Order: sequence, then structure tokens, then C-alpha cells
Amino acid sequence: MTEDIINKKKRIFSGIQPSGNLTIGNYFGALKNFGALQNDYECIYCIVDLHSLTVRQEPKNLRQHSYSVLALYLATGLDPEQNTLFIQSHVSAHAELSWILNCYTYMGELSRMTQFKDKSSKHADNINAGLFDYPVLMAADILLYQADLVPVGQDQKQHLELSRDIADRFNKIYSDTFVIPEPYIPKVGNKIMSLQEPERKMSKSDENENNFVLILDPYDTIIRKFKRAVTDSEKEIRFDPVNKAGISNLMGIYSSATGKSIADIEKEFSGINYGEFKIAVGEAVANELKPIQEKYNSLINEKDYLNEILKDSAQRAEHMARKTLSKVYRKVGLVPRQF
Ligand code: TRP
Repeated sequence: MTEDIINKKKRIFSGIQPSGNLTIGNYFGALKNFGALQNDYECIYCIVDLHSLTVRQEPKNLRQHSYSVLALYLATGLDPEQNTLFIQSHVSAHAELSWILNCYTYMGELSRMTQFKDKSSKHADNINAGLFDYPVLMAADILLYQADLVPVGQDQKQHLELSRDIADRFNKIYSDTFVIPEPYIPKVGNKIMSLQEPERKMSKSDENENNFVLILDPYDTIIRKFKRAVTDSEKEIRFDPVNKAGISNLMGIYSSATGKSIADIEKEFSGINYGEFKIAVGEAVANELKPIQEKYNSLINEKDYLNEILKDSAQRAEHMARKTLSKVYRKVGLVPRQF
């Protein structure tokens, strides 16, 4: 109670999987906005390594990507004192609460998750129980911290909805235990689509690397990937996501990078050909990423510094998480530990 009075800021929780190098979709859709939230909210950003295990990972890469996500959080301006930036597996309460919540989640609910259907068709040789159970671990992430708000893209809305249903169900059986989290829709930020297949979301796990631009791609690679972006057979730079998905995606990216409105971009590039426009987009993105890359490069080999942050944050997170987990254990009837 006293804690609630002193700390009136709403709490935000979000997670990023360390399952690949992050793309400009992660940047414009999430990271870039995170910096703007740190003064108004209490933010907890988790590197959800346990979620990544639902798809086969190279152990060495998984470890490296976890550090890489942390360094990117820092390079994009997140203050590690003001925000809690930690690794999911460092706080064992995530796995523990997830077990309890499993017993309050129905098979039917999980089978309706569209991401499970998509991923199981993509990884038909490895439809493991973790992949099926993924949304329950995500619910545990959010509910452990009593988060008020969760920034989510379209593809995670269904999972957040399920987290709310599980929380509500538990609260109804055992009295109020969990805060019911709301989706947080950022004021700015576009959904970034694949450069080669603009009907699909840009994904870091895509096989074709021309589909995505990484936050850490070198300048020339960024320009080259934009030059190759799929457009259409017209000549006009006009926003029409249905009929001109490629051009509209590029306009969205340019808008995210420059802060210009779509209407202004249509005016600016009226009469200009697609080739020139693509270079302009590539340059805007590459220039925005340059200082972030420099900061990242100066941080990524500072393992002691990064480990220090991971330690402090995990301790803070552990404290918050333990409180919820103990409450849950008590409510469902487990005997409290005597040591
Ligand atoms: N499922 C999310 C994704 O792939 C990652 C995630 C895990 C997450 N736990 C979360 C996002 C909790 C928000 C809140 O994008």
C-alpha cells in the first residue's frame, strides 16, 4: 500500500526476444519509443531468453544476442538506473509463475493462438510443448510485475488478451491478486513491413536477409537493401498500403526516421522517381542509426559493465517478482518455505 502511494507512476513491461539481431522494425516499432517513456513511466524491459528456446537456437548465438539486446537498449538511450533492463532467466519466478498459470489456462485457449498456428507450420519438425505454452510464460512475465501497460504490436495483441483473461480468472477464484494489464499503443511508431514481401511484417528470423534491415547493418548494406526494395509498376509516390504496399512501407519508414508526415512526404517526392526515393529512405535510416551503432560498438565489449547492469536489474526485478509469486503460492494453498 505505502509503495503504491509513493510510487504513482504507471508501470510498463515489455519484452524482446534475443533470437536474432534486431531490425529497424524493432527499432521504429519499439526501441525508439522506449526512450520517450522513461520519464513518465516506471519501465521494465526484459530480454526474454526463455521464450527464444521455443525455436531451436545456437547456444553461442543466443548468449551473444542477449548481450546485444542489452547494449542496444543502452545505445538507444535507455538509462539503466531509471529502467529495469534484465534477462528473464535470471529471475526464476518467471518459470515458476508460468507453471502455476498453466493450471489456469485451457488447451482450447492456447490452440486458438494464431502465432502458435503460424510458428508450428513454419517449424513443423519441432512443434514442442514450449511453443504451445509460450503465451502463458508471457502472461507470467507481465503479471509478476503487476504491470499496468504493455506496449504491443498487432501480432502480440492476442497474447496480451489471454494474459488479461488468465489474470481475471485467477482474481475471481482467489480475490484480487494481479493488476489486469492494458495494451499501450505508442503515439508514434509504424509497423515496419518486409522490404521484399511488404505484405508481411519485417522479421529478424527471416531467411532472406534482403527482407530486413538490421539496426547494426553497415551504412552501405542499408542503402543496398533499400535500393532492392520491392515497389510496383506505377511511378507515383503515394500512400496506399493495399495497392502499393512496398512504396507505402518505405514512406512509413521515411516518416519514422524523419518525423515528417505522410502528406508532406507525398509533396516532397512528387514527380521524383522510385530509385531516388529509395536512396533517400536508405540515407535517412542509415544516418539515424549511425550514432546508435557507434554507442553500441563502444559498449558491446564492456562485459563487466554490462554484467554489472544485469546483476543490479535482476536483483531489483527479483524483489518485485518474488512478492507476487509468494502471494500466488499462498493463495493457491502451497505451504510457505521454512528457510
Ligand atoms: N512475445 C513477445 C514477442 O515476441 C515477447 C514477449 C515476451 C513480451 N514476454 C513479453 C512482450 C511480455 C511484452 C510483454 O514480441
